[in-house]
Amino acid sequence: MKSLTAYGAPVLPAVIVVGFFVWFANWIPQTRWQPPQKLAITESMTPAELAVQGETLVRQRGCMTCHTIEPGAGVKGGGRGPNLAEVALRRASGVQGGPGTLVEYLVQSLYEPGAYVVEGFSNIMPASTSAPAKLGYEEVVAVVDYLQSLGGRPSVKIGDVPRPSGAPAAPAAAAATDPDPRALFDSLGCAGCHSLEAGKKVLGPSLDAEALRQAAAARSMSVEAFLVESIVDPKAYEAKDYPSGVMPQDYGARLNAAQLKLLVDYLAGRKS
Ligand code: HEC
Ligand code: HEC
Repeated sequence: MKSLTAYGAPVLPAVIVVGFFVWFANWIPQTRWQPPQKLAITESMTPAELAVQGETLVRQRGCMTCHTIEPGAGVKGGGRGPNLAEVALRRASGVQGGPGTLVEYLVQSLYEPGAYVVEGFSNIMPASTSAPAKLGYEEVVAVVDYLQSLGGRPSVKIGDVPRPSGAPAAPAAAAATDPDPRALFDSLGCAGCHSLEAGKKVLGPSLDAEALRQAAAARSMSVEAFLVESIVDPKAYEAKDYPSGVMPQDYGARLNAAQLKLLVDYLAGRKS
């Protein structure tokens, strides 16, 4: 933790800085972080076992940013995407004018969400094989099994559904163990919502160096302290003109201190 005191903003009184780090230390788990990508998915797993892994993936890879899983709430639910409870029931024979079986439809929903846009929703879902979810092939199979379990029974094994066209099997796996901060930024899904280019809005604000300097100054913080706060406690301060509560709230629990420092140093040190 010692090196983290380097984040102390010279503009802040020491007492506040110390208080901040006491709070911050409590946010960061002291145990080793288990990267979500390390889920052990093997060829011999049964569909039911795969579905268990699939549930973890759906919760860890940002699907719940947009989807709800609320039994009895209908397709609409309360999210930006359809309520996934009972999706297997309502799509038991696929969709009109599209895939005619549940499995084919689910696979299409993950690889090519825009191919069939559910009525009443807009075409905003990113392909699950790209950021922020970045599912590898085995992970897609596990997620299909989990979705089948929502109102039906998981039935697919590794190899039963097509691989994504042209994509390597599990691109995210390497990123998880890579100390490269840019890979960490990508594997955590930051890149799915933030550009590093000046002036380029995605779902969240651009994190180019100048924008970060201005946002931090407006909050009377050093860039590093502002980054730490924004990552571990996004609700503490929300940028105007952006959707509220969209940035995942659990990075404080998912990152260990070394990873957080790597990210913060990288973003704070970029020249734009
Ligand atoms: C940015 C918001 C967003 C994210 C993130 C997202 N989705 Fe979606 N999803 C939607 C929207 C909106 C629709 C409906 C429009 C469409 O069909 O493309 C949808 C449709 C679906 C459907 C079809 C549902 C139906 O009732 O037919 C499935 C299945 C699905 N998503 C699964 C997932 C999974 C699994 C993930 C995570 C890997 C995910 N989505 C991530 C917004 C999102
Ligand atoms: C699902 C989308 C999403 C993901 C994933 C996401 N963010 Fe955000 N982020 C946002 C939105 C929206 C805002 C603006 C609202 C707010 O301040 O909470 C934001 C705000 C921020 C800010 C404050 C910027 C400013 O100018 O006020 C920082 C810094 C930030 N995010 C960093 C990150 C990092 C680093 C990651 C990955 C570890 C990440 N975000 C992942 C959506 C996301």
